[in-house]
Amino acid sequence: MKAIVFDRYGSPDVLELREVEIPAPKEDEVLIKISSASVNAADWHLLRADPFLVRFMVGLFKPNFHILGCDAAGVVESVGAKVTRFQIGDRVFADLSLSGWGAFAEYACAKERLTASIPAGVSFDDAASIPVSGATALQAIRDSGKVRHGMSVLINGASGGVGTFAVQIAKQFGAEVTGICSTSKMDLVRTIGADHVIDYTKEDFTRSGKRYDVIMAANGYHPLSAYRRALSLDGVYVMTGGKTQQMTDAMMKGPFVSMMGGPKMGNHMANPNHTDLELIIEMVASGRVKPVIDRRYSLSKTSDALRYIEEGHAQGKVIITM
Ligand SMILES: NC(=O)c1ccc[n+]([C@@H]2O[C@H](COP(=O)([O-])OP(=O)(O)OC[C@H]3O[C@@H](n4cnc5c(N)ncnc54)[C@H](OP(=O)(O)O)[C@@H]3O)[C@@H](O)[C@H]2O)c1
Repeated sequence: MKAIVFDRYGSPDVLELREVEIPAPKEDEVLIKISSASVNAADWHLLRADPFLVRFMVGLFKPNFHILGCDAAGVVESVGAKVTRFQIGDRVFADLSLSGWGAFAEYACAKERLTASIPAGVSFDDAASIPVSGATALQAIRDSGKVRHGMSVLINGASGGVGTFAVQIAKQFGAEVTGICSTSKMDLVRTIGADHVIDYTKEDFTRSGKRYDVIMAANGYHPLSAYRRALSLDGVYVMTGGKTQQMTDAMMKGPFVSMMGGPKMGNHMANPNHTDLELIIEMVASGRVKPVIDRRYSLSKTSDALRYIEEGHAQGKVIITM
């Protein structure tokens, strides 16, 4: 099969299109003939081993796996001996984080428990956009934010892969949603349902005096004290991403700030599971959530897709088509 391979850490220049063996599914895995994959910030973090900590997880001197890509959609080609929920020919999408990644290829294996069916009418591109970004957004809004009807929710980084899902999912939970983005993306964020849109290049929402019940930060650095100022007394700040400082603040200082009383502050790491994939694809199938797809690249242009994502200004998701 054709695959985009990396043998060493580095820039997207180290990626090579090569012929490699089609992987064999383990007993609890399905082999997917991939139609579409999507790109996440995690792909370039792993490619560059940035932050350095990545090396302790996937190889100190060189990567111990060779094909990036966590989100895949396609057709089941074969199934492992213990797989019961899928058959050859089923249309599926999956999170490959527990099966060695590998979505930037014509075939990849996925754990059955991180695989879900694609309902009729949903495209492979839309399904491939869901696993990492959609699940992160859903879990941050529902589990960490505990968003309920009538709450005021602010999404920082509303125009990116995670943010475009978060705005729409928070609306599904009945929240009044404010999206933060730059000037050129305000129309998009309004179109996907935000009730209010703030241009971060013109206004600092942390100084407006308005207080929110939940703030989800997928991007956009502010010190924790600034985010705290914009929260109601029993508010919640949940960080899902951003620059290193944003992550360190939430993970290291968040628990201490939360102990002071008042708003709770912390981070959310995606917890991949097929139940959430099924919930989100159902929202997509019923038209309640619409994945925002910015660009499509062919497999051979995966390095360009990674360069684009690394710039940090994608408008929704970037798709690799086989
Ligand atoms: N916790 C987890 O498990 C998990 C899962 C997925 C992703 N993440 C992390 O979450 C972060 C976001 O992921 P993503 O897929 O949404 O990234 P993305 O698609 O690359 O985000 C790009 C978007 O961020 C916006 N942005 C950039 N700087 C901003 C700022 N200062 N304020 C507000 N918006 C800003 C950009 O808008 P402009 O061009 O207008 O600036 C662009 O639309 C990444 O750091 C990623 O590593 C974490």
